[in-house]
Amino acid sequence: MNIGILGTGHYLPTNVVTNNDLEKIVDTNDEWIRTRTGIKERRLATDEVDTSDMAFHAALGALEEANLKAEDIDLILVATVTPNTSFPSVACIIQDQLGAKNAAAMDVSAACAGFMYGLITAKQFIDTGAYKHVLVVGADKLSKITDWSDRTTCVLFGDGAGAAVVGEVSDGKGILSFELGANGAGGKELYLNHDDHIIMNGREVYKFAVRQMPDSTIKVIEQLGLSRDDVDYLVPHQANIRIMEAARERLGISEDKMAKSIEKFGNNSSASIPMALSEAVKEGKIKDNDLIVLVGFGGGLTWGAVALRW
Ligand code: ACO
Repeated sequence: MNIGILGTGHYLPTNVVTNNDLEKIVDTNDEWIRTRTGIKERRLATDEVDTSDMAFHAALGALEEANLKAEDIDLILVATVTPNTSFPSVACIIQDQLGAKNAAAMDVSAACAGFMYGLITAKQFIDTGAYKHVLVVGADKLSKITDWSDRTTCVLFGDGAGAAVVGEVSDGKGILSFELGANGAGGKELYLNHDDHIIMNGREVYKFAVRQMPDSTIKVIEQLGLSRDDVDYLVPHQANIRIMEAARERLGISEDKMAKSIEKFGNNSSASIPMALSEAVKEGKIKDNDLIVLVGFGGGLTWGAVALRW
C-alpha cells in the first residue's frame, strides 16, 4: 500500500512581534538577530490562545484539503512540547473540538522532530491495516516556555501549528523511505528546566544540526537508490537560516528548492515542518510527482527525515 499526505493545513497567530519589538525587552538588536538566525519577525499567541486552539485550526485546514470529515479520522497524533496541560492530551482536546468521535488520540513528544515521529507512526498504523486515516498535527506555543529575560533564546521562537491527514495514495506516491533517530546523551544540550524555561547550548545544538540534517537527507535518498539531484523540494526544520543554508549547500540543492519560513515565523518547534510544508503546498511550490524530503532535529536529542513522492 502507498501511504502519503492527503491534505495539509496550518495556523498562525495574528500578533506579529518584530526584532525591534524584542529590543525593548532584552539587550539585542535587529541586525544581530537577522544575521545570526535569519529571523525578522515571529507570531506570538495571546493568553487566550493555547496550543490546542492552534492545533484545531491547522487540523480543520488539513481535513478540508483532504476532502474528509472529522468522523473519517481513526487516530489523532499531536506532536508538541507545549501541551495545554500534561493531560488530557492536546490530541484529546481537539478530538472533541473537531467531533472526531471515531478517533483514538494521543500526543507525541519528540521536540522539534515530533512531526516526523508522528508521520511515521501514522504510516505504521495504516500499513498494518488497523487504520485508514490518521491526522498528524505539530503544534507549539513556545512563548509560554520562553524565558523572556534570556536574549540567547527568546529571539528564536514563535507560536503556530501545522497539520497533515495521512492515508492511502496512488501507486508510486507517498512516503518512500524514512529515518528516525535519538541520542539521549545529548539531552543536556536542550531541555526544559524546573522553571519551565527552554535551556539551550546553542553552539552544541548548532554543530549537531549542521551535521544531522544533510546526513539524514542523504540517507533517505540513498535508500531509494536516488541522488541528491533528484530532490525537488526540501522542507527542513526552521531553526536557524545558517543551519538550513549549510545543509542546503552540502546537499547541492538550489535556493528555490528549499522551504524558508523562518524569516517570518521564527522557530516553531514541532509545528515548523508541517507549517512550512502546508505553506509551500498553498503557494504552489510543490507539484504533482515531486520528490520531497522533510527533515528535522530537536531536543532529546531527536531527529527524523522522510522522502515522499507528492
Ligand atoms: N542579541 C545580541 N547578542 C546576543 C544575543 C542576542 N539575542 N544572543 C547572544 N548574544 C551574544 C552572546 O552573548 C555572545 O556575546 P559574547 O561574544 O560577548 O559572549 C555573542 O552574541 C555570540 O553568541 P554565540 O552564542 O556564540 O552566537 P552564535 O553565533 O552561536 O548564535 C545561536 C547563537 C543563534 C543560538 C546559534 O548557536 C544557534 O542557532 N544554535 C542552534 C539553535 C537551534 O537550532 N535550536 C533548535 C532547537 S530549539 C527547540 O528544539 C525548541
